[in-house]
Amino acid sequence: MKKIGSQVTIAMDGPAGSGKSTVARRVAEKLELLYLDSGAMYRAVTLLAISDELPADSPKLIEQVKACHIEFTDNGKTILLNAEDVSVQIRTPAVNRLVADVAKVPEIRHEIVKHQQRIGAEGSIIAEGRDLTTIVFPNADFKFYLDASVTERARRRLADLQAQNVDTTLAAVEAEITARDEKDTTREHSPLRTADDAIIVNTTRKTIDEVVDLIIAHVCENEQ
Ligand code: DC
Repeated sequence: MKKIGSQVTIAMDGPAGSGKSTVARRVAEKLELLYLDSGAMYRAVTLLAISDELPADSPKLIEQVKACHIEFTDNGKTILLNAEDVSVQIRTPAVNRLVADVAKVPEIRHEIVKHQQRIGAEGSIIAEGRDLTTIVFPNADFKFYLDASVTERARRRLADLQAQNVDTTLAAVEAEITARDEKDTTREHSPLRTADDAIIVNTTRKTIDEVVDLIIAHVCENEQ
């Protein structure tokens, strides 16, 4: 696979279940880029709120977020919060329920964005989340917005949950995704939106490999 020559920043946004984490991870492997899962960082600081039973917007939580140390190892596969591996804990239903509330606090976003920009300055990167194309890396070399219908996104999430033996229904997952979309797109600070210069990829009827190939082809054709 082609190696990207100069320093390249690829930013990717989209709603939950649009496929962006899997796609970004594979593009990172194939193009030998650093992978940044920005949602994992919001999930990690949500654990701080849960463990100390702090409200999402409490000054105490904001202090803890400023003081905490978040680090990725294994090219983004493992996330350490204050040196503890929290990669599994950040995917629990308790975190799913609270993370959108934590992610809407401007002081928390400010800290996390600074951290993401530091990581981005270290080398070629593909970063995905909700505000990577608009706020974190507004000058990214490549911007993509991945989307899919709510039903398709719910189907994908249901398959993941069933693989983990979680007992739920398509209707319940669809309701959870719709509620999260609403919070992510209507919040006051850095809502999920499509950057004017982003390439929109509808993944509803595409396989992961098709989306990966489409992105790599675009990057390789346009890289200088
Ligand atoms: O992509 P995800 O499901 O892991 O994201 C978890 C939550 O974090 C989601 O509710 C939106 C929020 N988030 C955000 O506000 N900004 C980002 N750049 C990434 C995620």
